[in-house]
Amino acid sequence: MQEANQKAWWLQKRAELLEIAERHLNAYVYDLDTIAAAAKRILAMDSVSRVLYAVKANFNVDVIRTLADCGVDFDCVSPGEVERVREALQDKGRGRILFTPNFAPRAEYEWGIKEGLRVTLDNLYPLRAWPELFAGQELFIRMDPDRGGGHHDHVVTVGSRSKFGVSLAEIDELVRLVDTAGAAVTGIHAHSGSGILDPMNWQAVAEALLGAAKRFPEVRVLDLGGGIGVPDRSGDAGFDVDALDRRLASFREAHPEYELWLEPGRYLVAVAGVLLTHVTQTKAKAGYRYVGVSTGINSLIRPALYNAWHEIVNLSRIDEPSGDPVTVVGPICESGDRLGTDRLLPTCHENDVILLATAGAYGYVMSSRYNLRDIPPEISI
Ligand code: LLP
Repeated sequence: MQEANQKAWWLQKRAELLEIAERHLNAYVYDLDTIAAAAKRILAMDSVSRVLYAVKANFNVDVIRTLADCGVDFDCVSPGEVERVREALQDKGRGRILFTPNFAPRAEYEWGIKEGLRVTLDNLYPLRAWPELFAGQELFIRMDPDRGGGHHDHVVTVGSRSKFGVSLAEIDELVRLVDTAGAAVTGIHAHSGSGILDPMNWQAVAEALLGAAKRFPEVRVLDLGGGIGVPDRSGDAGFDVDALDRRLASFREAHPEYELWLEPGRYLVAVAGVLLTHVTQTKAKAGYRYVGVSTGINSLIRPALYNAWHEIVNLSRIDEPSGDPVTVVGPICESGDRLGTDRLLPTCHENDVILLATAGAYGYVMSSRYNLRDIPPEISI
């Protein structure tokens, strides 16, 4: 049998997916019920007052609307993401957006403030160089909690090698600059990394932020960022949301003066998305077997960029036994255009439908037109 969990939504909806694949050579498909179910699990946490979806993970309008209907708010990192949320919510999103740009030009902060967005600063530079912008403003400050992790070096966002956040050691200068600018800090923020599966992480981050929070009398919120991981293999146990809730509840008991917010991206959308593609050609070379498919790292760059593992199944031959291990490759002119290495698939034939799982987060949004190949359409079901 190939690598597949009988409970995955994409097995239950296999017939519908095969029908979509008849109309599209390649396509991202999002199951909105699965997104809503993930949102409900996170929103059920008593310890968390507000959940902001990190729009960068998937900026599809249907996805944003589904999450908004569930009661999730939004973390946006660019004016483009803010505009996308407004478009999705027909301009009713203003009070629901946290604007967290990074190394952005002055004009973006000016714009954010003019638009009445709640702005997060993650460097002292804006306060030093443009204090006049922040007079009378309520700000969030992104600190570097110096603890965290991630599924790959590229997504660890703490420590002096990471460009994000104000170092905890700079707190005295931060207090002075905020004071001189005439701003008020109402939230302390951190994002410690991405793809973290240990629920302890966010409690540790909350504790690391306490010292900074106490320096500002107006702080009401500790925003603990995103980073909640999902298992690569669909048979593996999911993230223990109840354990996270228990940890954060004990933090809140000790520090009831602070609301806790979370900013999950991946957790809300990853499992709900699949990339469908078709077998183009097969090849064997000195004992190595290749299955070629009609899209590659132009659509899903995560395997090449982070060595990420996405489950791959032959949806046309789901019940057939697997053959020898194969490397699944796309049509892009790079040796790194591998979607999966040493995968156990049934013998694949031209035009079979291949599914890449857990592709709802950082899939379509990171795609490109490299080699002038088309970006697959997005379809919500
Ligand atoms: N909040 C902030 C400030 C962030 O920078 C991020 C992600 C999140 C929330 C959401 O993190 P999540 O819950 O999705 O882990 N392209 C990489 C992930 C980069 C994440 C960047 N920041 C990947 O494909 O794994």
